[in-house]
Amino acid sequence: MSIHKEVKKVTVNNILEMKAAGEKISVLTAYDYTTASILDAAGVDIILVGDSAANVMAGYETTLPITLDQMIYHAASVSRAIKRALLVVDLPFGSYQGNPYDALSAAIRVMKETGAHALKLEGGVEIKEAVKLIIDAGIPVMGHLGLMPQSINTYGGYGLRATGVHEAHKLNTDAQLLHELGCFAVVLEKIPAKLAKEVTDHLRIPTIGIGAGSATDGQVLVIHDLLGLNKHFKPKFVRQYLQLDQLITSAVQQYITDVKSVDFPNDNEQY
Ligand code: KIV
Repeated sequence: MSIHKEVKKVTVNNILEMKAAGEKISVLTAYDYTTASILDAAGVDIILVGDSAANVMAGYETTLPITLDQMIYHAASVSRAIKRALLVVDLPFGSYQGNPYDALSAAIRVMKETGAHALKLEGGVEIKEAVKLIIDAGIPVMGHLGLMPQSINTYGGYGLRATGVHEAHKLNTDAQLLHELGCFAVVLEKIPAKLAKEVTDHLRIPTIGIGAGSATDGQVLVIHDLLGLNKHFKPKFVRQYLQLDQLITSAVQQYITDVKSVDFPNDNEQY
């Protein structure tokens, strides 16, 4: 029996049940009301308001500049659209890496002002105190390991992570720690498929992969990548289900032609 089909409103418990039942978990990002309405009605399990909003919505090169207020604006817009999916929101860079009590305040603000069901934070042992305080406050947390875009200046690029023994060992230990702290899921970004399988097999909480192979308990993609909205961005781990960039370009070009030739509006399109 599919938990996905049974569930009227997805909860953190349903996500844990899906792993136990061997049912894969679907996750997509959204940043606005209209897109979120479509994804929710289509039946995606989790909608993530990712800080990738900094890239795809605001045009920044990294996720670092997006602020807590901006994340709250996106998350509240998405929240108004959601009827079924679990809503997870990223805490942005700078809101949780320092004093753990500041992290808790940021987390509480997001929960109070957006209607989010859970939060996502990047990191392992370094943010242990913040994760613990947030979970103790009754806020479900999704971890994020592997490529952590908020640490891009430490890595120096968006390449594959945890290819060496030391980093792979740290990732395994961090995943175990996040599990023990009470996280309900962990995103594994851009790591070898073999390592992702190893981590997945050792955890009772689900792993959600992006560029981490097929053995993870679920998959997440940025909605703009799935729809092919940016023809210049096509990494190996992305499957484009549409080339929306081309479709929008043709539609807009046709509109321009119709306006210039006074074909639009026609008699039926005016009062
Ligand atoms: O910000 C984001 O969209 C993410 C996903 C890519 C996992 O963190």
